[in-house]
Amino acid sequence: MLQSSAFDKFASEDREEKAVSKRASANLDSSSGPLANVRYSIFGLGSSAYPNFCAFAKAVDSLIADMDGERIQALGEGDELSGQEESFRTWAKAVFKAACETFCVGKDVNMQEANASLQTNELSWAPDKFRLVPEESGTAMELCEALTKLHTKRVLPCLLMSSNDLQSDESTRSTIQVTMDTQGASELLFEPGDHVAICPANEKALVDAILARVKNERTPDEVVVVQVWKSLEPTERLPPCSMRQALECYVDITTPPSPDFLRLLSLQATDPKEQEKLTLLGKGSSAYEDWKYENSPNLIEVLNEFSSINLSIEFLLQEAPLLKPRYYSISSSPRMYPGEIHATVAVVCWRTKGGKGPLHNGVCSSWLNRLKPGEVIPAFIRQAPLFRLPEKRNLPCILVGPGTGIAPFRSFWQQRQIDLQFTSAVNEKGEKVLGDISMFFGCRHPDLDNIYAEEKQKAITDGALREVHIAYSREPEQPKVGHDLGTAGTDRLGPGHKLRTDSVRAYLY
Ligand SMILES: Cc1cc2nc3c(=O)[nH]c(=O)nc-3n(C[C@H](O)[C@H](O)[C@H](O)COP(=O)(O)OP(=O)(O)OC[C@H]3O[C@@H](n4cnc5c(N)ncnc54)[C@H](O)[C@@H]3O)c2cc1C
Ligand SMILES: Cc1cc2nc3c(=O)[nH]c(=O)nc-3n(C[C@H](O)[C@H](O)[C@H](O)COP(=O)(O)O)c2cc1C
Repeated sequence: MLQSSAFDKFASEDREEKAVSKRASANLDSSSGPLANVRYSIFGLGSSAYPNFCAFAKAVDSLIADMDGERIQALGEGDELSGQEESFRTWAKAVFKAACETFCVGKDVNMQEANASLQTNELSWAPDKFRLVPEESGTAMELCEALTKLHTKRVLPCLLMSSNDLQSDESTRSTIQVTMDTQGASELLFEPGDHVAICPANEKALVDAILARVKNERTPDEVVVVQVWKSLEPTERLPPCSMRQALECYVDITTPPSPDFLRLLSLQATDPKEQEKLTLLGKGSSAYEDWKYENSPNLIEVLNEFSSINLSIEFLLQEAPLLKPRYYSISSSPRMYPGEIHATVAVVCWRTKGGKGPLHNGVCSSWLNRLKPGEVIPAFIRQAPLFRLPEKRNLPCILVGPGTGIAPFRSFWQQRQIDLQFTSAVNEKGEKVLGDISMFFGCRHPDLDNIYAEEKQKAITDGALREVHIAYSREPEQPKVGHDLGTAGTDRLGPGHKLRTDSVRAYLY
């Protein structure tokens, strides 16, 4: 969102005075809304895969207008599935021009220069702009400290206690229960319903393949920093680390590269045909979307497709997106398993090119699947205050969670099992103190992926769950979760119990 103050630095003093007096007069007019002195324009980031495309941005846009904010440029929309970067640039150019006009600074501004700054800034990569130098102390920053800096969240080391496949041996897929020891860290305390964020590492084979492709004189394990040639200042985008560690732990080498990244790769290709194709893809046109959809290429596949790219390691460390933490719904109750965090993780792997291409493994889920007990899992907690068992404990609850959607509900039923050890479900007047919990679960087949089957049964025996309904998608004429079962379940709650928030709490996952 752009407010008038964002542009003040461009204004000369008298123009600033004009703008200030304009804002002041807007403030003085008592009939105007609370944002009458705000000029704004919104750019929404969304995905057209969702029916309410960019709904939040649209809502904020109209809300500010309703409060008398002055929209200086129409809402821009960036679709994650199509040309988001290009849409942003188009909007940003238009909004900058509109802002210059609104704040009367247009004449002094070099529009070409301003527009060019949308693609580059002083830390953007350009050939021969950066160099790799050894870190003075020769020591890399400790992993969790470095991740804390990168993600501005306190990342702490958990230790893997165990990881077990919850699906049967006959199943072609894996869902693992990952059990972590928090080593007593108070920052890793949580409530049932919260998420754990896990900072994974990339596959060694991919890292090795990239290291073999980059042009560089240093050994992959030397601790280095990237420095700006001109100023000899470190860029500090990444912590001091070896190239191998950077590619393993800090940068994303598997998500298909963005158009901007491809445009910069085109500058490093020597074959004119490859340059041409990379330049085209770098425009983020439909050619890019088709190419990305068809190949979903990771970095090494891009380097193989464009074999003339003379990849600079400084470029990679400076421009590759950061490897993002992955969130998992915590599937254990801290009262049942103090000092532990359990996650229920579907191991992601698929073939590109509509099933005919190379096998791709999900970064985090496959990394967790490979880890050995005792190895470190860098993690932090993200609270989900709106996803809790109800404070009014006598409210009945309906939990709907197919597949790994069961994860947070395991923490709920475990919590209820503990509650039942300290509280009687019914008071002396015969009234329920703890409301019934009904669970709807869906999977493919009873013999393949009915995960936590025994635990669910035990929860019923303990009185923590009233009932569990299971829909099997690969069994003909079985009800489907959220449809047939949803109706059946509400009936079972008894007359007068509708899906109303004051009488029943429904959780869908
Ligand atoms: C709040 C929250 C809670 C979550 N809880 C859980 C949970 O409890 N359990 C759980 O398992 N996950 C959960 N997830 C999802 C989880 O965070 C990860 O996204 C998931 O594990 C995949 O991560 P990855 O690193 O293994 O895969 P990535 O390397 O991130 O790869 C996944 C990407 O690969 C691509 N892809 C995957 N399959 C295909 C395909 N067939 N065809 C084409 N492209 C494909 C897609 O672009 C997809 O985004 C949760 C996510 C959020 C936001
Ligand atoms: C890249 C991306 C783009 C999204 N775009 C939209 C959008 O345009 N409209 C929308 O309603 N939700 C969008 N969402 C989903 C919301 O951010 C939010 O996750 C969702 O409404 C919650 O439901 P879900 O967990 O079923 O996705 C997007 C999510 C992602 C990851």
